[in-house]
Amino acid sequence: MNYKIPRGTFDILPPQSAKWQYVKQSFHKVASNYGFEEISTPIFEMAELFERSSGESSDVVQKEMYRFQDQKGRSFALRPEGTAPVVRSYIENHLGMQAAHSRLYYMGPMFRYDRPQAGRYRQFYQYGVEFIGSNHPFYDAEVIALEMDFLSELGLKKARLEINSVGCSTCALDYDKALREYYKPHLSELCTDCKTRYELRPRRLLDCKVPSCKAFRTDAPSQFDYLDAPCREHFDQLCGYLELMQIEYTINPQIVRGLDYYTNTAFEIIYDDLGAQNSLAGGGRYNALIAQLGGKDTPAIGFAGGFERLLLALEKEGIEIAKPLKPDIYLVLMGEIAQTTGMEILRILRKRGLYAEYNPEKTSFKAQMKAADASGARYAILLGEDEIKENSLLIKDLSSGNQNKIAGKALAEYPF
Ligand code: HAM
Repeated sequence: MNYKIPRGTFDILPPQSAKWQYVKQSFHKVASNYGFEEISTPIFEMAELFERSSGESSDVVQKEMYRFQDQKGRSFALRPEGTAPVVRSYIENHLGMQAAHSRLYYMGPMFRYDRPQAGRYRQFYQYGVEFIGSNHPFYDAEVIALEMDFLSELGLKKARLEINSVGCSTCALDYDKALREYYKPHLSELCTDCKTRYELRPRRLLDCKVPSCKAFRTDAPSQFDYLDAPCREHFDQLCGYLELMQIEYTINPQIVRGLDYYTNTAFEIIYDDLGAQNSLAGGGRYNALIAQLGGKDTPAIGFAGGFERLLLALEKEGIEIAKPLKPDIYLVLMGEIAQTTGMEILRILRKRGLYAEYNPEKTSFKAQMKAADASGARYAILLGEDEIKENSLLIKDLSSGNQNKIAGKALAEYPF
């Protein structure tokens, strides 16, 4: 039997794994600069958590959730996204009682049963933040700024920010009514999914990828015309903050978002060169979700991005993020005594935080020097009979060829 990896998943192998490590570390750093602290939640949760939060009509719940029952017949799901678990944890652990604002970030695998293609997988890795505890538009801008800083920290240049407001639950009612009126004469021309969307959540009609349905989108009523005064003001203030922070944006009234919990601000980071899966990251406000999941009514905003798409975008721009791992020092040991002393040298170097390597399978001096050169190490430490007698070491700079003899005890301080 040849075992194969499940479709839509991938192994992260060296040297690619170094790039993953690099982007994760960069995200830790940028999130910390904004005062966010890490939260980790389980890979699986009660299925109902996602059904209630993502929305019954969303693709995530309708088609993409990995559901399973445990031995006691309880229904669980592999998490398709990170927001609902963070909110569940926020409520369960009473985080709202500990501080007025909770700034949480996370990274980890998410699971959606979708048709795999470039940039779309069944297990994918998200990074994200959730800012819980204020409706002030300054925080909408901060969350967006965090993502933009992260992208520029990595050197990415061509990512674009699109923003929209989907309004609050009151303006959404008027807008849904207007959409139903607009789509009613075309109902028979819509795909089966859209007929359900028409009933359950009309704004999802704008997100349909079927070409015949997509055609109706151009003339559909715009959410913007249905925003009430407070929602309009919130949006205008967000734009003002983005301008003060010198973050470029375009307004796209057709941003719908695939999950149902959004209110007011919705945004996406688009990378045009990624083809169909061109959304690097997305998020928005979800002011009603915490109360909906049983917590105290608390406004919140967040976003999540996909590491796979990010790495694809970095590749498109030719950005080399993590250099291949090379030893600092390669040990060349001749003779039995040198081999014994060499073990001590290895420990000293590693304690100093240096990457030191030695290969006991290569015995001749020539083979060891060849291996040292091939490894890309910066230095070789040569230890043979002469050095043992003198209690010294020969340090060779492998790029210049310069050699330096030092006393054995000077190794602990030697400036590599
Ligand atoms: P989302 O738009 O569903 O939002 O996903 C966010 C990002 O995850 C996407 O922009 C994309 O980069 C990545 N992504 C989604 N699905 C896949 C997939 N199948 N394969 C590869 N990458 C994928 C959310 O998940 C929300 N929880 C974001 C949020 C946080 N909103 C508020 N707070």
